[in-house]
Amino acid sequence: MRKQLIAGNWKMNTTIPESLELIHQLKERVSSSCPAEVALIPPFTSLSVAAAALRGTGIQLGAQNLSHLAGGAVTGEISGAMLVSVGCRYVLIGHSERRKLFQENDALIHLKLKMALSEGLWPILCVGESWEEREAGQARDVIKNQLEKSWNHFTPMEMRKTTIAYEPVWAIGTGKNAQPEQAQDIHEHIRALVDSQFGAELAQEVRIIYGGSVTPENSSSLLIQPDIDGALVGGASLEANSFYAIIEAVH
Ligand code: 13P
Repeated sequence: MRKQLIAGNWKMNTTIPESLELIHQLKERVSSSCPAEVALIPPFTSLSVAAAALRGTGIQLGAQNLSHLAGGAVTGEISGAMLVSVGCRYVLIGHSERRKLFQENDALIHLKLKMALSEGLWPILCVGESWEEREAGQARDVIKNQLEKSWNHFTPMEMRKTTIAYEPVWAIGTGKNAQPEQAQDIHEHIRALVDSQFGAELAQEVRIIYGGSVTPENSSSLLIQPDIDGALVGGASLEANSFYAIIEAVH
């Protein structure tokens, strides 16, 4: 039985005081009996204080990126070991904003995945098609290609530790979420791809979460789909009430 994951990707938002205020408001609401696993993914600068503030709450911490290199003369980068030492469990890899704004390609994403896993982090691998690709009927092929290049040479154990996030690029920050049936269709496709590569048992274990304009209003209809195992929330995670309402949509 897969436990749903509700993760808040704060992107390049929140100073340290703002992060602490948001965590303070969330901590009061999220109880240990919460049926979902909750993770917060603040900017690097807030990770250390967030780890301290979250201690003992059961809320997990994640980072938005990591270097594919282990360390040394790599100005401006953050290594997997640094993320582990600050208290991260999760790390986002291959977010469409990094693919688009920082030219991250599938080969680099593969290296980042391997680095994260070798350091003991649990990656959240983001995949998704553009509007043009969807309109051209290519969504399934685009996602297959992104996944196969990413999990090239993965062991079953590495796959087990990886969460896949389906984030259609056209749904991110646009207020235009994928319809629940559209999202379910792609999630089912992704699970079938995991099945064909790693077997049916592992395919049933792997979490596949949805991201792209998730709100309190649409979260129930998305999260009720059989192959949607949680949500990766951007804008709505920056406000405690709306993020908590999404967490509450998990049953
Ligand atoms: P929005 O929820 O703001 O559309 O962002 C989704 C996202 O990119 C999460 O990683």
